Amino acid sequence: MTPATFTVLTGIVKQRSGGVINPDQGYMLETRLAPLLKREGLPSLDALAARLAAPRSDTLAQEMTELLTTNESSFFRDGRPFEHLRGFLPALHRARPPGMPLRIWSAACSTGQDAYSISILASELGEADPGFATRRVEILGTDICGAVLERARAGLFTQFEVQRGLPIRTLLKRFTQEETRWRIRPEIAARCRFERLNLLGDLRALGRFDVIFCRNVLIYFDVPTKARVLDALADRLQPDGALYLGAAETALGMGARLAPLPGERGVYGLGMEAERLRA
Ligand SMILES: C[S@@+](CC[C@H](N)C(=O)[O-])C[C@H]1O[C@@H](n2cnc3c(N)ncnc32)[C@H](O)[C@@H]1O
Repeated sequence: MTPATFTVLTGIVKQRSGGVINPDQGYMLETRLAPLLKREGLPSLDALAARLAAPRSDTLAQEMTELLTTNESSFFRDGRPFEHLRGFLPALHRARPPGMPLRIWSAACSTGQDAYSISILASELGEADPGFATRRVEILGTDICGAVLERARAGLFTQFEVQRGLPIRTLLKRFTQEETRWRIRPEIAARCRFERLNLLGDLRALGRFDVIFCRNVLIYFDVPTKARVLDALADRLQPDGALYLGAAETALGMGARLAPLPGERGVYGLGMEAERLRA
């Protein structure tokens, strides 16, 4: 692949998804795009770049972009955010009028593990507190990548995937085994809905959420894109809601609107703005 091809292909990915691919990741283009080249009968990435410069290449550009997203996820990833949420959801439940659903958004949900982990947590909370059990919890999972959303909707996971992060008791209680795979139980899946959505697009139609999980996607963005997405996420958050970021991510230094919740790393509220709205 020539340097010009690298610039063209990574430029398309950056423009469409925000993801930055560094020059030392050229191998990633070679390996992940090989099946696409084969299917399209293209001899090289240079030929792909030429094809993408031609008219009516939009679908191909989107397919390429999706193939270059990293979709790694696991149940109850990093532990700590879910422990915080275990205390935060009951507080939200007490703060909301009866009948109003708690709205939760798993932005960049990949194959759905964050969304299903939150739903499992909601079931656990409902089993411990009949009051919480009456609260409707709606979980929206979104991602730019159609293939992972299909997997999220199917709710079917491999042995390897369920072994990462799920205690055996939870696995047996919340999944049913289907040959070598495990299917999330219908009552856990029922709270979750999955839709395609680009975080760089217009997010206003989503309304506001009590909780937003947006983990392990901002790390792929450059600073201006990160700041722009964080600002859009802040707009989607209820004044007393919380935004959960990944362990390696921060909103600090990205504008004044989001402030870490006291004593928490990676959990943010609207800080000054929320104070102003409450005043
Ligand atoms: C590493 S996964 C994170 C999954 C999950 N949030 C977690 O922490 O385990 C990152 C996901 O972000 C998605 N993604 C990348 N760019 C995106 C964008 N611009 N809009 C929406 N999703 C995007 C990818 O398709 C991928 O599924």
